[in-house]
Amino acid sequence: MALQRLGIQHLRIFSNLINHQAQLNVHRNQSVLASPDNPRILITGGLGQLGTGLAKILRQKYGKDNVIMSDILKPSKEVVESGPYIFADILDFKCLQEMVVNNRIDWIIHFSALLSAVGEQNVPLAIRVNIEGLHNVMELAKQYRLRIFVPSTIGAFGPESPRNPTPNLCIQRPKTIYGVSKVHGELLGEYYYHKFGLDFRCLRFPGVISSDTNPGGGTTDYAVQIFHDALKTRQFQCYLKPDTRLPMMYITDALRSLCEFMALPPEALKQRTYNVTAMSFTPEEIVKSVQRHVPDLQVTYAPDSRQQIADSWPQVFDDSEARAEWNWKPQYDIDGMVDIMVEALRPKYKN
Ligand SMILES: NC(=O)c1ccc[n+]([C@@H]2O[C@H](COP(=O)([O-])OP(=O)(O)OC[C@H]3O[C@@H](n4cnc5c(N)ncnc54)[C@H](O)[C@@H]3O)[C@@H](O)[C@H]2O)c1
Repeated sequence: MALQRLGIQHLRIFSNLINHQAQLNVHRNQSVLASPDNPRILITGGLGQLGTGLAKILRQKYGKDNVIMSDILKPSKEVVESGPYIFADILDFKCLQEMVVNNRIDWIIHFSALLSAVGEQNVPLAIRVNIEGLHNVMELAKQYRLRIFVPSTIGAFGPESPRNPTPNLCIQRPKTIYGVSKVHGELLGEYYYHKFGLDFRCLRFPGVISSDTNPGGGTTDYAVQIFHDALKTRQFQCYLKPDTRLPMMYITDALRSLCEFMALPPEALKQRTYNVTAMSFTPEEIVKSVQRHVPDLQVTYAPDSRQQIADSWPQVFDDSEARAEWNWKPQYDIDGMVDIMVEALRPKYKN
């Protein structure tokens, strides 16, 4: 019995040594690849609102085959034809590890998540996807010396934060599981940066508005839905009160900020986490702007559980540090964004 125990102990020590050696080899080999000119990039949760557009931009910049999209969804024919797509469940460490190794990945853009409103409806799943999933990619990025981008959000702040404006660094006590998981991501990433030298990068986005992909269940989704309803039925019911002010960004600006931020050399970054934004408006204000194109648009207000979330979030986001430290500058204001959204969606609803 004692001999058997000793044998198991030896086996454990031996396997730990092998793991340690494997990690050292990984570090040695990968340090050369840390920041190549044409990085090989993996996007997790790539079929969501932000992933498809980002893949397009990154493929133009770094080459079609260097950007690998992944998700747990069945891709459309268009997605499959536009470049590499692989099934990847963020909760399966081994599958992710295989993908990173076999595809010689240099950067991970980690988009998989359950957003604010959806997360509140299924807290255990949100904890698994947003927290356990994050642990998996963070650990892989550490082991293989990858540059990793993890988006955060205005939802990482709470009612105790200064809300107008909300600075880069202030108290963060979010009241949704989405926000809690995002603060966890920010802190863990910064910890891995200090402890292990991980090239962790994080931008806190406001509500992102886009025409060719649908939002995934966030509190700012109304600012996309209004365009579809205005053009289709001329009637829109808003789930937030008319004076609920929230920060927003047109998708082109959001994806550009991410690409510019990821391309910066490590020494150019003074911090790992930055606020970025472009505009801030209320439902009443976007209605007025949309009515410039659809004058007969009728709007009613029926606040639901998302009102409480919105009331705890920043009203105006202060991104002055991103502007000062790496020249971030948005191009679209509210009317500019509304013009381009209406132009893009009008043909879809023409009858
Ligand atoms: N869209 C916004 O307004 C906004 C604002 C701030 C931050 N963000 C952040 O940006 C990221 C992308 O947002 P989005 O709007 O594209 O989200 P989305 O909900 O549209 O897409 C998320 C994707 O994650 C995938 N996913 C879910 N579970 C998964 C799993 N187990 N394994 C792998 N993939 C899984 C989903 O299939 C989906 O395609 C998220 O982390 C989000 O928190 C988005």
